[in-house]
Amino acid sequence: MTPRHLPEGFLLGCATAAHQVEGGTDNDWSRWTAAHPEAIAGGGDATIAIDHYHRYREDLAQLAAMHQTAHRFSIEWSRVEPERGRFDRAALEHYAGVVRTCRELGMEPVVTLHHFTLPPWLVAMGGVTAPEAPARFARYVAACVESLGDMVTWWITINEPAVVATLGYLEGTWPPGERSLRLATRALLGLLRMHAAGAQAINGIALRYGREAQVSIAHHERRLVPRTTNSRVERALAALPDYLFNRWFLRSCVAGRVLAPVGHGETVPGLAGSLTYLGLNHYANEAVSLDIRAPGMLFTRHEAVPGHPQSSTGWAIDPDSLRTALTSLGNEFGLPILVTENGVADDHDELRPEYLRAHLNAVADALDAGVDVRGYLYWTAWDNFEWAEGYTQRFGLFAVDRTTLERIAKPSAALYAEICRTRSVPEAMVAAQPDAGAPTRSGV
Ligand code: FCB
Repeated sequence: MTPRHLPEGFLLGCATAAHQVEGGTDNDWSRWTAAHPEAIAGGGDATIAIDHYHRYREDLAQLAAMHQTAHRFSIEWSRVEPERGRFDRAALEHYAGVVRTCRELGMEPVVTLHHFTLPPWLVAMGGVTAPEAPARFARYVAACVESLGDMVTWWITINEPAVVATLGYLEGTWPPGERSLRLATRALLGLLRMHAAGAQAINGIALRYGREAQVSIAHHERRLVPRTTNSRVERALAALPDYLFNRWFLRSCVAGRVLAPVGHGETVPGLAGSLTYLGLNHYANEAVSLDIRAPGMLFTRHEAVPGHPQSSTGWAIDPDSLRTALTSLGNEFGLPILVTENGVADDHDELRPEYLRAHLNAVADALDAGVDVRGYLYWTAWDNFEWAEGYTQRFGLFAVDRTTLERIAKPSAALYAEICRTRSVPEAMVAAQPDAGAPTRSGV
């Protein structure tokens, strides 16, 4: 079986987010979890998470030992600006240490500035819908870029704005727990303005450092497709939510204006040209059908696309959906793409090896089709706090013992290490995985 080679310089690594791994964060999510323990599957919280804040050096060394060449992490705004206008030098120095460590270990840092969590003082002002949110975000971003900008090329302003708006403001399962289409569109608008203000801040400072920054959001591509392929009703039902979730934000960025139906074409300073690449988070598409009891969801019901195996989160596993996401985004926007998240929740590491192989082949297909894919970051390195799913969904290449916090390599960690080492992907799964069987305790 011939392995497929990925281009030289192609980035391979993992992605994480501060609140999910660091421990010790005081933000809207930690307060939400404390106030609504029933909203978290299994009742866990991120008080300790996996204590990555204190263990990042060993953790990153473990990933570098797997020949990873990039690492995505997020900066926790509530640490850097614990009170409005007060910036914490020690917190900024911590993240400078993380970036320095990545560089020393030969991993390109990919830095997210907002990954779902907000400082409580901003929540008190109205969170992402506060009129001041874009200006506050720009000041915080400026503080981060001042401190790290000479060492960082790849920036992500905001992780998955459409997910923040949907789960926090439409479905109400995430903070701030709102259920209103009107508020969800206001959140989208606020996040768009925050992205524009953040991108402007990055570019201004990066220029001073003589660095050409790469700036994007991490866009969650989750196409909403009719449940029954030839149903005209379902196709019509899926069209508006699909556009709002998957294209509205990106197209507004390219246009530099707030597109309908959220706005009326108003220009947003800093928005045009704010994307220099596309960060793509992709897991699965979703099937849509009619639900007359769900006016708040535009009368739609969502479920896994039928006909595919499912992960333990109940998401369809279909590598072709990653290939399609890459080609359709590449063709429409003509920007380089970095896969900033792709992964599978899998309790016993049974699905993950084939998932990795098949999804990296989908990336290779997109490259062959001419899409400018710059890298692939697997979600995620270590089993972590998965938001409303608590610790019940295990995406990691490493398990984490919840008592000792020991990191335990799963068999797929060895496979990914081999892919990273050789920069090539097996075309088919020939034999059992290296080290298949029980997870090993000693590295990979
Ligand atoms: C994405 C999030 C990430 C993680 C994965 C499973 O939507 O960006 O933090 O929870 O899903």
